[in-house]
Amino acid sequence: MGRLVIVSNRVPVPKRGEAPAAGGLAVALKDAFSSRGGLWFGWSGTASEEPADLVRHARRAGVDYAVIDLSKTAYDGFYAGYANSALWPMFHFRLGLLSYDRDQAECYRIVNRRYADKLMPLLRPDDTIWVHDYQMIPLGAELRARGSRHRIGYFHHIPFPPWAVFSAMPGAEDLIRDLLAYDLVGVQTHRDHVGLMDCMAQGTGMKVRPEGEVRLRGRRIKLRSFPIAIATDEFGQLAARSVSSPEAKRFASSLAGRSLVIGAERLDYTKGLPERLRAFSALLERFPERRSCVTYLQIAARSREDVETYKDLKREIETLAGRINGDYSEADWTPVRYVGRAVPRDTLAGYYRMAQVGLVTPLRDGMNLVAKEYVAAQDPADPGVLVLSRFAGAAEAMTEALLVNPLDAVGMAEAMDTALAMPLEERRERHGAMLRRLRENSVEDWARRFLDVLEGKEGAEVQPS
Ligand code: G6P
Repeated sequence: MGRLVIVSNRVPVPKRGEAPAAGGLAVALKDAFSSRGGLWFGWSGTASEEPADLVRHARRAGVDYAVIDLSKTAYDGFYAGYANSALWPMFHFRLGLLSYDRDQAECYRIVNRRYADKLMPLLRPDDTIWVHDYQMIPLGAELRARGSRHRIGYFHHIPFPPWAVFSAMPGAEDLIRDLLAYDLVGVQTHRDHVGLMDCMAQGTGMKVRPEGEVRLRGRRIKLRSFPIAIATDEFGQLAARSVSSPEAKRFASSLAGRSLVIGAERLDYTKGLPERLRAFSALLERFPERRSCVTYLQIAARSREDVETYKDLKREIETLAGRINGDYSEADWTPVRYVGRAVPRDTLAGYYRMAQVGLVTPLRDGMNLVAKEYVAAQDPADPGVLVLSRFAGAAEAMTEALLVNPLDAVGMAEAMDTALAMPLEERRERHGAMLRRLRENSVEDWARRFLDVLEGKEGAEVQPS
């Protein structure tokens, strides 16, 4: 079996002597890397003033990493520009925020061409290549143009809208045709699969078979869904350990016996943060008996701060949090605690476990792993309640959460009130069902299933329930 080559915009190169990253793709790929060896290729995370052309190599725990910098111009046009100001809003159904600029679109192509130029010489003939996410859609076609005959798969981590939305993007047909260079295109959920099939059929005019397959000049391109997972038990153990740390104890005592409601994500307009703050305000307004009895901790990690819409969002959230605290605080109670940066993973796991309510209410989200981590972190004997947006991919399988529409502030306030009042037995039932399902789909299984379908292995087409 050949090596596994991963391409993603962010490459989590472990520091020398340190273990690989504890979350995300690094965990999903650990087994595959250790059984067949691998290469991980992508952006170094650095934007340099110089034209950056050098590939830097590192080898850690049997995996080769190869990263390149982006020049400042490429960073602005490709990353802050086309990828995050045009593709990101479009894929999240936010056409009103889509900002298209033809030079940036060209820059996106140029960067993908450059990645292909740099990756091609590093490849061996029997490698399997797995490309991740919207920053890299044209990479497969660029590799093919350079003679690659590898098996190449693409996984789309974010939502896939139907053609009625996708087609608003200038150049939509080219973008969808780029996917035909892959042997397998994977999306998160059934809903995304429907969107992908619709875009393929309408955007290319080709026949898409009902099982999710397109035939093109003797090649078969498979379209499938693979809901991404987490390392459930490991995260649960981390949370259980973390609640007894001194920081966690200090935090718990600062709550003075009040219930804790938690939200944690990147500061992104897809996450529905202003809507959630308004809903929390509605809770305090409509259910006055909750005042002084509940604390809402919102952790919002800084993200994409060079993009204008993100700056506006930060101001909006700060204003809203300040207003709620101004309206409702007592001398000994602050309703909203707002932390505007990331907190360490173990600390966060402990906070999840302490929280009676987990709020995961994005306006759109590919999957949303916070929903899964919140459930994994709970004490099964006395679990908290997940309030989950029906527009998160996670809602497709986590049907025992309290499902909400994030645009309905009063509906969300009612769900929070229901969650805070939910009897132990019902909490256990709902949590137990979700935990069981999380355990059935491990993150390694997710990666294995994708690779099995990509490599045409027998029996690999069975989808998890
Ligand atoms: C989402 C995307 C990823 C992206 C991540 C962080 O999860 O699906 O592709 O890497 O956000 O965003 P950033 O712009 O910092 O890479």
